[in-house]
Amino acid sequence: MPPPQGSWNRVEGPGDYPFTNEVHNDTYAAIDPTKADHVGHSGFNSGASKGLGRALALSLAKSSASEIAVGARSELTEVVAAIRQAANEAGRPEPKVLAVKLDVRDQASVEAATEKIAADFGKLDVVINSAEIIEPVTSIVDSSPDVWWSVWEVNVRGSYLISRSCIPLLLKGKLDTLIMISSVGAHVIIPGLSAYQPGKLAITRFMEFAAAEYKDQGLVPFSVHSGNVLSDIISEDTSYFQVRRKTRS
Ligand SMILES: NC(=O)c1ccc[n+]([C@@H]2O[C@H](COP(=O)([O-])OP(=O)(O)OC[C@H]3O[C@@H](n4cnc5c(N)ncnc54)[C@H](OP(=O)(O)O)[C@@H]3O)[C@@H](O)[C@H]2O)c1
Repeated sequence: MPPPQGSWNRVEGPGDYPFTNEVHNDTYAAIDPTKADHVGHSGFNSGASKGLGRALALSLAKSSASEIAVGARSELTEVVAAIRQAANEAGRPEPKVLAVKLDVRDQASVEAATEKIAADFGKLDVVINSAEIIEPVTSIVDSSPDVWWSVWEVNVRGSYLISRSCIPLLLKGKLDTLIMISSVGAHVIIPGLSAYQPGKLAITRFMEFAAAEYKDQGLVPFSVHSGNVLSDIISEDTSYFQVRRKTRS
């Protein structure tokens, strides 16, 4: 378990403890993918080249999903091999895996990727959008307008474009599950993150619109706080981590 609330902990964020009485730091039985049965289901994970997106794509394989598409701007050969290996090691059938080159900021790129998925899978059951970036921690006046806006381009416009292109495919599937990896950052204010945190709030609100517009057709949209994980966006090299260490020490 993480240390008590209020003590310095490089992983847990300031908003985690007030939201739950129980903080996990590993997979636990209720969410163990090897106990899930997703035979016949198709998943798509954007932002799957590393971090949470990559881990979630591997979890889809461990949960026996039959078709898994992964997207990112980077080369995905290693991720495709890791997905197959994860299925094999979990004793699950090897899924059909599709890697799509994808920039979530770009309408044409998102549409081309989802058209490829539609051609190969015909439908989707689960979409997880984890393609995101975070800005260097900087006050509003000192921030670069281009960097500030680039966070909204990836995180907010990207979430919108992925939803816009994937909802029709989800409505053809069985689970109709659209997941945006948001953040506890939607609900807390860390000075210097004026692009990332309001953007996460926008995504959370946007999922409420997805629910309002498509719930009658079965869509189940989620905006999820992933918990804090030592991925690249929260690593010791980021200004986010350095600012947190300074403010807590
Ligand atoms: N780590 C945490 O503690 C934490 C806490 C709360 C919420 N989250 C959320 O969890 C999600 C995943 O974050 P992470 O920690 O796994 O970050 P990460 O390791 O930096 O991974 C981000 C992923 O997004 C992709 N990406 C970035 N820009 C993209 C673009 N324009 N088009 C397509 N893909 C793009 C990256 O791939 P390429 O660079 O190859 O394109 C990469 O695969 C984010 O929504 C983040 O806000 C994380």
